[in-house]
Amino acid sequence: MKTILLPASGADTARRAAEIIRQGGLLGIPTETVYGLGANGLDENAVLNIFEAKGRPQDNPLILHVSGPEQVERFCHSIPPAAYELMDRFWPGPLTLVLPARDNVPRRTTAGLDTVAIRCPDNDLTREIIRLAGVPIAAPSANISGKPSPTTAGHVLHDMDGKIEAIVDGGPCSVGVESTIVDLTGEMPRLLRPGGITPEQLRAVLGELIVDKAVVGEVSPHEVVRAPGMKYTHYTPSGEVIIVTGTGISAARYILPRLGDHDRVLCYEEELGLYPPEKALAYGREQEPETLARGLFAALRQLDSAEIQTIYARCPSGGGTAYAVANRLKKAAGFHIVNGEEET
Ligand code: TXA
Ligand code: MG
Repeated sequence: MKTILLPASGADTARRAAEIIRQGGLLGIPTETVYGLGANGLDENAVLNIFEAKGRPQDNPLILHVSGPEQVERFCHSIPPAAYELMDRFWPGPLTLVLPARDNVPRRTTAGLDTVAIRCPDNDLTREIIRLAGVPIAAPSANISGKPSPTTAGHVLHDMDGKIEAIVDGGPCSVGVESTIVDLTGEMPRLLRPGGITPEQLRAVLGELIVDKAVVGEVSPHEVVRAPGMKYTHYTPSGEVIIVTGTGISAARYILPRLGDHDRVLCYEEELGLYPPEKALAYGREQEPETLARGLFAALRQLDSAEIQTIYARCPSGGGTAYAVANRLKKAAGFHIVNGEEET
């Protein structure tokens, strides 16, 4: 199969893209978070092809992308008032809600669960494609399973060339990390994955929010977790990632004596001067966590090379967007964290 690139500015891009979805094909779609690998979410065979193209375990459910909140009642039931409040406040945007699924949602899409994850992406063209297709688009991130999510059409092409019909090129993603996931099927709203909508923003609407343990720590592959995707290794370049905490100076004091020819530093722009230029890559500014979110996955991809053995990474702390960045980076590191202040 020859994978074609459809430019966002193309006059008939939306129509051609919608046609691919209607015919059961696979399509790379831009969203504000990361690129998705989309197919008709109501077509079991098309959905099966998503799992195959990604090499994704079949027990890991997909997110259903809809063109607006009015679509949700078609696919979900027993929708609590909190869901309407969140949709009203944050859609279209980087927030996914887990709700009870109606029977018209194939269990292939939900990986056998009777709940479904649903979101309305903040990308006009992608919402237009969903509207024209007349079906919701099931889409995981468009990376090979286990690799960093794609934030440009080029990343999608790198991972999916020859495996999918087309990629809609919508330019670089504005958020850069995947959507926040909130489970509204339990007694209390539960954060399953931090993302572009922060815990602080959610609490302002919901009052209370439980943070699932998969967000904060490592989960063993045998544990039952609420977001099945959280138990798999993720975002991993081929080298080993080690997070070094502490001040910029103390981290450099830890890293520099250990930095071999095949090692690299993934740091903030503010810290580039501390390292040999050919060994360091900045993924954004510490003082502006949104830039870290936008740059993280592209940087991890750039460092994904068999030549590179160890990647010493600087990881932001605190709430807001930094919380989502830290979550992805800790997963990439398999929660391998050393404190630069203590270990020099
Ligand atoms: O920003 C995003 O959410 C991107 C773009 C493409 O929309 N999509 C994305 O999909 O990140 P994916 O498949 O890479 O991650 C979806 C996560 C997985 O961890 C999965 O286990 C979880 O959502 N999930 C899906 N359905 C669920 C459900 N019914 N209950 C709990 N977790 C669910
Ligand atoms: Mg993913």
